[in-house]
Amino acid sequence: MKLFVDSANLDEIAALVPLGIVDGVTTNPSLLSTQGDDPREVLKRICELVQGPVSAEVVATDVEGMVREGRELAAIDPHIVVKVPFGKPGVQACHMLAAEEIRVNVTLVFSAAQALLAAKVGATFASPFVGRLDDIATPGMDLIGQIVEIYEAAAFSTEILVASVRGPMHVVEAARLGADICTCPPKAIDALFNHPLTDIGLEKFLADWARAQQRPG
Ligand code: G3P
Repeated sequence: MKLFVDSANLDEIAALVPLGIVDGVTTNPSLLSTQGDDPREVLKRICELVQGPVSAEVVATDVEGMVREGRELAAIDPHIVVKVPFGKPGVQACHMLAAEEIRVNVTLVFSAAQALLAAKVGATFASPFVGRLDDIATPGMDLIGQIVEIYEAAAFSTEILVASVRGPMHVVEAARLGADICTCPPKAIDALFNHPLTDIGLEKFLADWARAQQRPG
């Protein structure tokens, strides 16, 4: 399963890239709006850092506006994937942009029916939001299981990009269910590394070794 960083913060992304685990980045207007600089400049620099798919979202809500913005975003860098919100305008814009071989990430997906329509119009990625479903007492990972089943049955090429991830269990469950990608805030990626027994085990190894170095002879 590929791992994307769900952030528009260059420092956060730059800190994770050397680990060799980052396959791409997802941004959204909320994340980008916190970065101060020109959003297009920020996106360009993220592309240079990551050398993988970087999702950038349109803010237009009409088809013509989404397609126009989509072309502009795609022109920023070959790594850019245009993000459109699910809905009739978003589905139509995805259909049109995909016909121009512009990669599209259909976002704000909350049902299997929405994910089905996104795949039918040639989306490169479909982004179901698991955390926001959990927030309303609807098990987000059940949706991922349904989408994996539907996409496999229809042999869709659209990749399932699990979004609105809140912690390591969302990542583990997404991988177990066969999702293609998981996009995680840096905090959730850091948490993937944690296990107390790893720390305790290393501490003991090093202590034993140090003690052995002090033994005479
Ligand atoms: O970038 C899309 C998504 O991952 C944001 O989700 O719920 O953490 O705001 P959330």
